[in-house]
Amino acid sequence: MVSSVVVIAGVGNGSGTGAAAARLFAKEGYTVALISRGAEALNALASSINSSGGKADSFPVAAYGPDEVTAAFAAVEARFPSPEYAITAAIFNAGHGVWKPFLQVTPEDVREVSKVNIEASFAFSRAAILAFQKNEPSPATGAKGTLVFTGATASLRGNVVTSAFAAGKFAVRALSQSLAKEFGKENIHVAHAIIDGGIATNNERGNRNSPPSGPVENTTPNSKLSPESIAASYLYLVNQDQSSWTWELDLRPAHEKW
Ligand SMILES: *[C@@H]1O[C@H](CO)[C@@H](O)[C@H](O)[C@H]1NC(C)=O
Ligand SMILES: *[C@@H]1O[C@H](CO)[C@@H](O)[C@H](O)[C@H]1NC(C)=O
Repeated sequence: MVSSVVVIAGVGNGSGTGAAAARLFAKEGYTVALISRGAEALNALASSINSSGGKADSFPVAAYGPDEVTAAFAAVEARFPSPEYAITAAIFNAGHGVWKPFLQVTPEDVREVSKVNIEASFAFSRAAILAFQKNEPSPATGAKGTLVFTGATASLRGNVVTSAFAAGKFAVRALSQSLAKEFGKENIHVAHAIIDGGIATNNERGNRNSPPSGPVENTTPNSKLSPESIAASYLYLVNQDQSSWTWELDLRPAHEKW
Protein backbone atom coordinates (compact mmCIF):
# COMPACT_ATOMS: atom_id res chain seq x y z
CA MET A 1 0.00 0.00 0.00
CA VAL A 2 1.24 3.47 -0.88
CA SER A 3 1.84 5.63 2.17
CA SER A 4 0.65 9.25 1.90
CA VAL A 5 3.12 11.92 2.90
CA VAL A 6 2.29 15.43 4.08
CA VAL A 7 5.09 18.01 3.90
CA ILE A 8 4.73 20.85 6.38
CA ALA A 9 6.93 23.96 6.28
CA GLY A 10 6.97 26.13 9.38
CA VAL A 11 6.45 24.47 12.76
CA GLY A 12 8.05 27.15 14.96
CA ASN A 13 8.19 26.12 18.58
CA GLY A 14 6.08 23.06 18.05
CA SER A 15 3.04 24.64 19.69
CA GLY A 16 1.23 26.28 16.79
CA THR A 17 -0.63 25.52 13.58
CA GLY A 18 2.16 23.63 11.81
CA ALA A 19 2.76 21.32 14.74
CA ALA A 20 -0.96 20.72 15.34
CA ALA A 21 -1.36 19.84 11.66
CA ALA A 22 1.62 17.47 11.93
CA ARG A 23 0.05 15.65 14.89
CA LEU A 24 -3.38 15.43 13.29
CA PHE A 25 -2.18 14.22 9.89
CA ALA A 26 0.05 11.65 11.65
CA LYS A 27 -3.02 10.37 13.50
CA GLU A 28 -4.82 10.11 10.17
CA GLY A 29 -2.08 7.79 8.93
CA TYR A 30 0.06 10.26 6.98
CA THR A 31 3.83 10.10 7.10
CA VAL A 32 4.83 13.59 8.17
CA ALA A 33 7.85 15.45 6.74
CA LEU A 34 8.64 18.58 8.72
CA ILE A 35 10.64 21.45 7.23
CA SER A 36 11.50 24.18 9.69
CA ARG A 37 14.20 26.24 11.36
CA GLY A 38 15.33 25.21 14.82
CA ALA A 39 16.46 21.59 14.54
CA GLU A 40 15.95 20.99 18.25
CA ALA A 41 12.23 21.86 18.40
CA LEU A 42 11.76 20.06 15.11
CA ASN A 43 13.33 16.81 16.35
CA ALA A 44 11.35 17.03 19.58
CA LEU A 45 8.12 17.27 17.59
CA ALA A 46 9.09 14.41 15.27
CA SER A 47 10.01 12.13 18.15
CA SER A 48 6.83 12.94 20.06
CA ILE A 49 4.82 12.01 16.96
CA ASN A 50 6.88 8.83 16.60
CA SER A 51 6.37 7.84 20.20
CA SER A 52 2.61 8.31 19.96
CA GLY A 53 2.44 5.81 17.13
CA GLY A 54 2.84 8.15 14.16
CA LYS A 55 5.64 8.55 11.71
CA ALA A 56 7.50 11.83 11.32
CA ASP A 57 10.88 12.94 10.08
CA SER A 58 12.52 16.33 10.36
CA PHE A 59 14.24 18.27 7.60
CA PRO A 60 15.70 21.34 9.30
CA VAL A 61 16.65 24.42 7.30
CA ALA A 62 18.99 27.21 8.40
CA ALA A 63 16.65 29.79 6.83
CA TYR A 64 13.48 29.89 4.74
CA GLY A 65 15.25 30.69 1.49
CA PRO A 66 14.36 29.24 -1.90
CA ASP A 67 17.53 27.11 -2.08
CA GLU A 68 17.07 25.78 1.44
CA VAL A 69 13.42 24.90 0.84
CA THR A 70 14.15 23.26 -2.52
CA ALA A 71 16.95 21.19 -0.99
CA ALA A 72 14.79 20.17 1.97
CA PHE A 73 11.96 19.10 -0.34
CA ALA A 74 14.42 17.04 -2.38
CA ALA A 75 15.60 15.38 0.83
CA VAL A 76 11.97 14.56 1.70
CA GLU A 77 11.51 12.91 -1.71
CA ALA A 78 14.74 10.95 -1.30
CA ARG A 79 13.72 9.79 2.17
CA PHE A 80 10.16 8.89 1.08
CA PRO A 81 10.53 7.68 -2.52
CA SER A 82 7.76 6.50 -4.81
CA PRO A 83 6.22 4.03 -5.36
CA GLU A 84 6.25 3.19 -1.66
CA TYR A 85 5.32 6.77 -0.72
CA ALA A 86 3.36 9.55 -2.40
CA ILE A 87 3.42 13.19 -1.36
CA THR A 88 -0.27 14.07 -1.42
CA ALA A 89 -0.46 17.12 0.83
CA ALA A 90 1.75 20.12 1.52
CA ILE A 91 1.21 22.94 3.97
CA PHE A 92 3.09 26.23 3.77
CA ASN A 93 2.88 27.67 7.26
CA ALA A 94 6.11 29.67 7.35
CA GLY A 95 6.02 33.43 7.53
CA HIS A 96 8.06 36.42 8.56
CA GLY A 97 6.47 38.98 10.82
CA VAL A 98 7.52 42.60 10.90
CA TRP A 99 5.48 45.02 12.98
CA LYS A 100 6.98 48.48 12.64
CA PRO A 101 5.90 51.96 11.64
CA PHE A 102 6.68 52.30 7.96
CA LEU A 103 9.59 54.71 8.38
CA GLN A 104 11.33 52.19 10.66
CA VAL A 105 11.06 49.31 8.17
CA THR A 106 14.57 48.52 6.92
CA PRO A 107 15.63 47.15 3.53
CA GLU A 108 16.65 44.02 5.47
CA ASP A 109 13.09 43.63 6.80
CA VAL A 110 11.75 43.91 3.27
CA ARG A 111 14.29 41.40 1.96
CA GLU A 112 13.44 38.90 4.70
CA VAL A 113 9.69 39.26 4.08
CA SER A 114 10.28 38.74 0.36
CA LYS A 115 12.54 35.76 0.99
CA VAL A 116 10.08 33.86 3.18
CA ASN A 117 6.74 34.93 1.75
CA ILE A 118 7.67 35.07 -1.92
CA GLU A 119 10.89 33.21 -2.69
CA ALA A 120 10.40 30.34 -0.23
CA SER A 121 6.67 30.00 -0.87
CA PHE A 122 7.31 29.84 -4.64
CA ALA A 123 10.03 27.21 -4.16
CA PHE A 124 7.83 25.16 -1.82
CA SER A 125 4.87 25.37 -4.24
CA ARG A 126 6.99 24.36 -7.22
CA ALA A 127 8.34 21.29 -5.42
CA ALA A 128 4.89 20.33 -4.13
CA ILE A 129 3.22 20.66 -7.54
CA LEU A 130 5.97 18.68 -9.29
CA ALA A 131 5.51 15.95 -6.66
CA PHE A 132 1.69 15.96 -7.01
CA GLN A 133 1.93 15.69 -10.81
CA LYS A 134 3.47 12.23 -10.38
CA ASN A 135 0.42 10.96 -8.45
CA GLU A 136 -2.72 9.29 -9.69
CA PRO A 137 -5.89 11.13 -8.61
CA SER A 138 -7.13 9.87 -5.25
CA PRO A 139 -10.20 7.63 -5.69
CA ALA A 140 -11.80 9.36 -2.71
CA THR A 141 -11.28 13.02 -3.63
CA GLY A 142 -10.13 13.08 -7.25
CA ALA A 143 -7.10 15.10 -6.15
CA LYS A 144 -3.50 14.39 -7.05
CA GLY A 145 -2.54 16.53 -4.11
CA THR A 146 -3.53 19.48 -1.94
CA LEU A 147 -1.44 22.54 -1.18
CA VAL A 148 -2.57 24.69 1.75
CA PHE A 149 -1.21 28.13 2.68
CA THR A 150 -1.61 29.76 6.07
CA GLY A 151 -2.78 33.36 5.71
CA ALA A 152 -3.65 36.03 8.23
CA THR A 153 -5.87 39.06 8.70
CA ALA A 154 -3.01 40.89 6.97
CA SER A 155 -3.59 38.79 3.83
CA LEU A 156 -6.57 41.05 3.11
CA ARG A 157 -6.02 44.17 5.12
CA GLY A 158 -3.07 46.46 5.67
CA ASN A 159 -2.88 48.37 8.92
CA VAL A 160 -0.56 50.60 10.91
CA VAL A 161 2.75 48.78 11.50
CA THR A 162 1.94 46.01 8.98
CA SER A 163 3.29 47.50 5.74
CA ALA A 164 5.97 44.82 5.39
CA PHE A 165 4.02 41.94 6.96
CA ALA A 166 0.85 42.60 4.95
CA ALA A 167 2.84 42.97 1.72
CA GLY A 168 4.23 39.48 2.32
CA LYS A 169 0.87 37.99 3.21
CA PHE A 170 -0.87 39.59 0.21
CA ALA A 171 1.82 37.96 -1.93
CA VAL A 172 1.13 34.49 -0.54
CA ARG A 173 -2.59 34.94 -1.17
CA ALA A 174 -1.92 36.06 -4.75
CA LEU A 175 0.29 33.03 -5.33
CA SER A 176 -2.25 30.61 -3.90
CA GLN A 177 -5.09 32.00 -6.03
CA SER A 178 -2.99 31.88 -9.19
CA LEU A 179 -1.98 28.29 -8.49
CA ALA A 180 -5.56 27.24 -7.67
CA LYS A 181 -6.66 28.51 -11.10
CA GLU A 182 -3.70 27.11 -13.02
CA PHE A 183 -3.59 23.64 -11.46
CA GLY A 184 -7.24 22.90 -10.67
CA LYS A 185 -7.49 21.51 -14.22
CA GLU A 186 -4.76 19.04 -13.30
CA ASN A 187 -6.70 17.87 -10.26
CA ILE A 188 -4.40 19.67 -7.88
CA HIS A 189 -6.23 21.46 -5.08
CA VAL A 190 -4.75 24.71 -3.78
CA ALA A 191 -6.27 26.43 -0.77
CA HIS A 192 -5.57 29.52 1.33
CA ALA A 193 -6.71 29.82 4.94
CA ILE A 194 -7.08 33.25 6.47
CA ILE A 195 -6.44 32.96 10.18
CA ASP A 196 -8.28 36.03 11.44
CA GLY A 197 -7.29 36.27 15.08
CA GLY A 198 -4.65 35.39 17.60
CA ILE A 199 -3.61 31.76 17.84
CA ALA A 200 -3.25 30.14 21.25
CA THR A 201 0.40 29.02 21.16
CA ASN A 202 3.39 29.09 23.48
CA ASN A 203 5.02 31.37 20.99
CA GLU A 204 5.05 34.98 22.10
CA ARG A 205 4.56 35.98 18.51
CA GLY A 206 1.43 33.84 18.35
CA ASN A 207 -0.89 36.80 18.17
CA ARG A 208 0.60 37.78 14.89
CA ASN A 209 -2.54 39.30 13.49
CA SER A 210 -2.73 42.26 15.85
CA PRO A 211 -0.06 44.90 15.99
CA PRO A 212 1.71 44.68 19.39
CA SER A 213 0.75 48.31 19.96
CA GLY A 214 -2.89 47.52 19.21
CA PRO A 215 -5.82 47.38 21.58
CA VAL A 216 -5.36 45.42 24.82
CA GLU A 217 -5.37 41.78 23.90
CA ASN A 218 -8.66 40.01 24.45
CA THR A 219 -7.90 37.05 26.70
CA THR A 220 -11.42 35.78 27.35
CA PRO A 221 -12.05 32.18 26.34
CA ASN A 222 -13.11 31.93 22.68
CA SER A 223 -10.91 34.90 21.83
CA LYS A 224 -8.09 32.86 20.31
CA LEU A 225 -7.99 30.18 17.67
CA SER A 226 -6.88 26.77 18.82
CA PRO A 227 -4.14 25.34 16.59
CA GLU A 228 -5.90 21.96 16.73
CA SER A 229 -9.07 23.49 15.29
CA ILE A 230 -7.11 25.14 12.51
CA ALA A 231 -5.47 21.79 11.78
CA ALA A 232 -8.89 20.12 11.62
CA SER A 233 -9.91 22.65 8.97
CA TYR A 234 -6.76 21.90 6.99
CA LEU A 235 -7.60 18.19 7.07
CA TYR A 236 -11.12 19.05 5.91
CA LEU A 237 -9.65 20.94 2.94
CA VAL A 238 -7.45 17.98 2.05
CA ASN A 239 -10.42 15.60 2.23
CA GLN A 240 -12.75 17.68 0.04
CA ASP A 241 -13.76 16.02 -3.21
CA GLN A 242 -13.05 17.89 -6.40
CA SER A 243 -16.70 18.66 -7.17
CA SER A 244 -16.64 21.38 -4.51
CA TRP A 245 -13.20 22.59 -3.64
CA THR A 246 -12.58 25.52 -1.36
CA TRP A 247 -9.90 27.93 -2.50
CA GLU A 248 -10.21 30.26 0.45
CA LEU A 249 -11.36 29.62 3.96
CA ASP A 250 -11.45 32.16 6.74
CA LEU A 251 -11.31 31.16 10.37
CA ARG A 252 -11.77 33.32 13.42
CA PRO A 253 -12.65 32.74 17.06
CA ALA A 254 -16.25 33.37 18.04
CA HIS A 255 -15.39 36.51 19.97
CA GLU A 256 -13.10 38.10 17.40
CA LYS A 257 -14.11 41.61 16.32
CA TRP A 258 -14.13 41.71 12.54
C1 LIG B 1 9.86 30.12 20.94
O1 LIG B 1 9.35 30.55 22.19
C2 LIG B 1 10.21 31.43 22.89
C3 LIG B 1 9.60 31.72 24.24
O2 LIG B 1 8.23 31.93 24.16
C4 LIG B 1 10.47 32.67 22.06
O3 LIG B 1 11.38 33.50 22.73
C5 LIG B 1 11.02 32.28 20.70
O4 LIG B 1 11.15 33.42 19.89
C6 LIG B 1 10.13 31.28 20.02
N1 LIG B 1 10.73 30.83 18.77
C7 LIG B 1 10.07 30.84 17.61
C8 LIG B 1 10.81 30.28 16.46
O5 LIG B 1 8.96 31.29 17.48
C1 LIG C 1 10.88 8.93 13.71
O1 LIG C 1 10.78 7.64 13.13
C2 LIG C 1 11.31 7.54 11.80
C3 LIG C 1 11.05 6.14 11.30
O2 LIG C 1 9.71 5.88 11.29
C4 LIG C 1 12.79 7.86 11.81
O3 LIG C 1 13.27 7.90 10.49
C5 LIG C 1 13.01 9.23 12.43
O4 LIG C 1 14.39 9.47 12.55
C6 LIG C 1 12.36 9.32 13.79
N1 LIG C 1 12.53 10.69 14.23
C7 LIG C 1 12.82 11.00 15.50
C8 LIG C 1 13.11 12.44 15.77
O5 LIG C 1 12.80 10.20 16.39
